[in-house]
Amino acid sequence: MKRNFKRYTVTAALPYANGPIHIGHIAGAYIPADIFVRYLRLQGKDVVFVCGSDEHGAAITIQAKKEGISPKEIVDKYHQIIKSAFDGIDMSFDIYHRTSSDLHHETSSAYFKKLYDKGVFIEKESEQYYDETFKQFLADRYIKGTCPKCDYDSAYGDQCENCGSTLSPTELINPVSTLSGATPVIKKTTHWYLPLNNDTEWLLDWINNGKLNNEKLHEPAEWKKNVLGQCNSWLKDGLQPRAITRDLDWGVKVPLANAEGKVLYVWLDAPIGYISATKQWALDNNKDWEPYWKDEDTALYHFIGKDNIVFHTIIFPSLLKAHGDFILPQNVPGNEFMNMEGKKISTSRGWVINIHDYLEQHPTKTDELRYVLTANMPETKDSEFTWKDFQSRINGELVATFGNFVNRVMVLMKKYYSGEVPSININLKINNGETEGNSTDFKAELKTIQDKINRVGESIEKFRYREALSRLIEFASYGNGLLQFNEPWKKIKEDEETVKVIMLAAVNIVAGLAVASQPFLPKTAEKLFKMLSLNSEDFTWGNAAEIIQQKLIAGHQLNEPEILFEKIEDEFVEKEIEKLNQMAQNAAAMGSESKVEIKDEIQYDDFSKMDFRIGTIIEAEKVPKADKLLKLTVDLGFEKRTIVSGIAKFFKAEDVLNKQVMVLVNLAPRKLRGIMSEGMILMAENKDGELKFVSPEGLTDNGSSVS
Ligand code: 2FM
Ligand code: ZN
Repeated sequence: MKRNFKRYTVTAALPYANGPIHIGHIAGAYIPADIFVRYLRLQGKDVVFVCGSDEHGAAITIQAKKEGISPKEIVDKYHQIIKSAFDGIDMSFDIYHRTSSDLHHETSSAYFKKLYDKGVFIEKESEQYYDETFKQFLADRYIKGTCPKCDYDSAYGDQCENCGSTLSPTELINPVSTLSGATPVIKKTTHWYLPLNNDTEWLLDWINNGKLNNEKLHEPAEWKKNVLGQCNSWLKDGLQPRAITRDLDWGVKVPLANAEGKVLYVWLDAPIGYISATKQWALDNNKDWEPYWKDEDTALYHFIGKDNIVFHTIIFPSLLKAHGDFILPQNVPGNEFMNMEGKKISTSRGWVINIHDYLEQHPTKTDELRYVLTANMPETKDSEFTWKDFQSRINGELVATFGNFVNRVMVLMKKYYSGEVPSININLKINNGETEGNSTDFKAELKTIQDKINRVGESIEKFRYREALSRLIEFASYGNGLLQFNEPWKKIKEDEETVKVIMLAAVNIVAGLAVASQPFLPKTAEKLFKMLSLNSEDFTWGNAAEIIQQKLIAGHQLNEPEILFEKIEDEFVEKEIEKLNQMAQNAAAMGSESKVEIKDEIQYDDFSKMDFRIGTIIEAEKVPKADKLLKLTVDLGFEKRTIVSGIAKFFKAEDVLNKQVMVLVNLAPRKLRGIMSEGMILMAENKDGELKFVSPEGLTDNGSSVS
């Protein structure tokens, strides 16, 4: 943050409105953004801080199907839950907008049109999976099948969660539509592509050297290593054109005549959501939004989690540049992920602490959560939240160090001076609070306070929030040292005048802490200002000590001391861990229940289309390099067929020989691992996921039909 910018536009990733937000989200993107913005505001900077709900894409329609309500109902429901969670945890957004708003639809649609008219996009026909029952093309997440790399049988069309491979839907073995459970068919469709292949070169120069057309725009050394690493691993092999439209009936409609049933890809419309949010904020506040996105004197920052890095460093910048009127981000401080109690956070597995639940249960402990999440922020690598650590940090750092110092000062001020700031002899020396025998005077003390505040700010500017927070606690420890070395409670009997200096120096430190804690602990800071009877708005970060000196003058009356933080008892931790285990158990139980969900009703005609026959397995062998597959030859009486079956985990080839089985014989043939499979053997899956053959009772003739 070297250049002196005129204004700042700060964005925090728009969360999908398909579920509540949890501690991992908050620690990754939102708390760092909020700390940064509060810090900028305390410096008197012109800042707009925008966020909002990301309400489009398959993430929403899938959740709608799961909950059995419409996408609109889903986004309305979760938008409210997320928004109030953000309010509760004191995210100081200037606006929390929605991508379902008319303004956003207009803005993103116009953006697309502008690029389209400039001839930026390539129009291309491709083959994609289509669900004939639901009459729709399938987004990658709507297709599941066996991973071609590891044989995991529930890989998604875009990714296998078992081996982490990036996939395309056509690579999946035995793909099924998650909508109907049917095998999708391939159909032709037309989409618009962003030719990212033309952007590789300038992106490399811009990201790694901070230069665009030889003009220096940012300092790459200030970008986080994890972010640069991800960018370069994308860029190293060159980029491919990327489709920026989808066949879906939920989203921003493609504003072209020949685009019925097509919407903008959610990753095109979501980041434009930052722009529409800024527009709405400007409308609400009688401002002009354009300088915040177009003026070279504006610094744009995107705060995100690691799964969003490529979209904010490569795809969105390409869209901004292609438009031509917009600035590029100054920095994209992306964080890694936070795990919890030894496992990955997972909403579906119930291993999660949702913010709205936490707020409901601990409404007075919001700064405590912000504190612990900042102290464990996943800044350079994945980090870990545990309730035990929550307890030890709060008890050791907030209660015993920060709270204890403030309380001692306020109580002593009340006891010695009834809370009224005394008049002091500025020439008297006191211990400097660092080491025995080192003295200092009041003026030097004020300078130390400003230095301590500045040190916190330097870390914030480098996006090192863990370091910034520990510098804040060091500042409070220093206050404790000042009391400890000067022992006002002993001196009060023999040297009242020096005690006045010690106590005023201590109150000044409390005021310094009020300023420096504001970005991290907004409620605590508010309480401190109230106890000190000071107005937070009078203070700026860089001149804090000077203003403290002007305000805390002889005769200034302090308010009553308040307890800042409560100790966390062992029972608190035990209860929380018990709650987590309970939620995980409930989720597991729900998961197994959902397996007995019955598919949609069909008509007799649908059933009668299927031709089931009895057959005997007469040959069996393992398919090389496929853990799950056996190649079987089945004698159906009227002919012998080859069938590839995913049962190798449960049966050895020799175990299945001579088994009589039921076979669906009129299923369209499919190639699996290069072998044409001509039918399907019926299997039953027990609750442990083991497969058993469905066989006729007693031997019967091969070829007998089953009905
Ligand atoms: O990962 C997510 O939750 C996305 N909804 C983030 C979008 S960020 C931005 F581009 F809007
Ligand atoms: Zn895999």
